[in-house]
Amino acid sequence: MLPQEIIRKKRDGFELSAREIGEFIRGMAEKKVDDGQVAAFTMAVFFNKMNSKETTALTLAMRDSGKTLNWKGFDKPIVDKHSSGGVGDKVSLILAPLLAAFDVYVPMIAGRGLGHTGGTIDKLEAIPGYNTQADDDTFRKVVKNVGCAIIGQTADLAPADKKIYAIRDVCATVESIPLITASILSKKLAAGLEYLVMDLKCGNGAFMGNFEDACALARSIVDVANMAGTKTSALISDMNQVLGKNVGNAVEIRESLDFLQGLPVDSRLKEVTFALGAELLISCGRFKDKSEAFSKFEQAISSGRVLENFAKMCSALGAPVDFVENADKYLPHAALIKPIYAAQAGYVAAMDTRKIGVAVIKMHGGRTVFGEKLDLATGFTDFAQIGDYVDEKTPLCFVCCQNENQFETAKEDILSAVKLSQTAVKINSPLLAKIK
Ligand code: URA
Repeated sequence: MLPQEIIRKKRDGFELSAREIGEFIRGMAEKKVDDGQVAAFTMAVFFNKMNSKETTALTLAMRDSGKTLNWKGFDKPIVDKHSSGGVGDKVSLILAPLLAAFDVYVPMIAGRGLGHTGGTIDKLEAIPGYNTQADDDTFRKVVKNVGCAIIGQTADLAPADKKIYAIRDVCATVESIPLITASILSKKLAAGLEYLVMDLKCGNGAFMGNFEDACALARSIVDVANMAGTKTSALISDMNQVLGKNVGNAVEIRESLDFLQGLPVDSRLKEVTFALGAELLISCGRFKDKSEAFSKFEQAISSGRVLENFAKMCSALGAPVDFVENADKYLPHAALIKPIYAAQAGYVAAMDTRKIGVAVIKMHGGRTVFGEKLDLATGFTDFAQIGDYVDEKTPLCFVCCQNENQFETAKEDILSAVKLSQTAVKINSPLLAKIK
């Protein structure tokens, strides 16, 4: 069938067969489907959705657009975590080396920024020399020797997703359950995982704004992944505020290093990271319950093992051997760092989290066009959390930017994104539900 006929059928609300979906995805590799047709296809799916049969067919066709990794000879569980995307979400950077401290292999294939959300691969590229496009042999060697490796999709791993992802990023077709399911799982299934935990973000900084949609996405991912042979569960976590204190690329690497060094960290970031780690390591039999997992995590971090895993992973992938000790020397710095103060004192009551993610894009920390090179130094640090009291001495956050114009735009965005209350605000757990 011609690509335009497949697009037309979905545009008009009809179900596509597995054969039609497979033809469209294969057509991308064979250059019989161009980028405009991919954009139109994703828009048609965005509006008319896909049922579970179509979603499964799309996932498997995208997985099979490249090769599937095989971990024969790796004698420990092959595990991974993936997030549906958030603002300030640096969990993968912390969790990969943490999991690797517990006798599992973590071959993590991560993504670039998508829509208003940041991407692990963009963040890692703030580390000079870190090769996010390592070849297969290097990837396997690092996973074997260190226990974890985080890289981007190589040219031959779910290449259809790589292309569709980049097109969705700039065509406003991100927030779609079948497209997110297929995007995440095509990579994860191609990576040959045995166990996966999903962090399904829910709220105004996530692709799923409300709890029902987040549960539906979680259900879709969990069902397709388990059907395809990867034991998967999902936690639904709150994204109605930035996760952790820093938002941006280099600044999130900095915050992750603080976490790995055992310095005091944001409690919500810790709760989400530990809960995801526990879920995965309980599922593959490493721990009996959450409390055992949490205390082992604390011990592993304070022993320095987790930081060492991160340092080894970075240097094995090309970063300077002393990156972790001298991170401030190596990470890019913004020319201007200035605080933003609220107009009046009060308790932080709500955030328009998406707006904060978009504010980073405006400072070139995320893309507006396909393939754009980023300014990895820009972003926000020391972001106040919901429930925190701010006044003329305690800023809402600091802006890391390159000039006064960027600062003024960011200030306007942040002041309109953060709502204050004159009375104390209840602080809720960031963990909302679990889907098995
Ligand atoms: N992460 C992905 O890999 N794909 C999506 O569509 C959303 C989050």
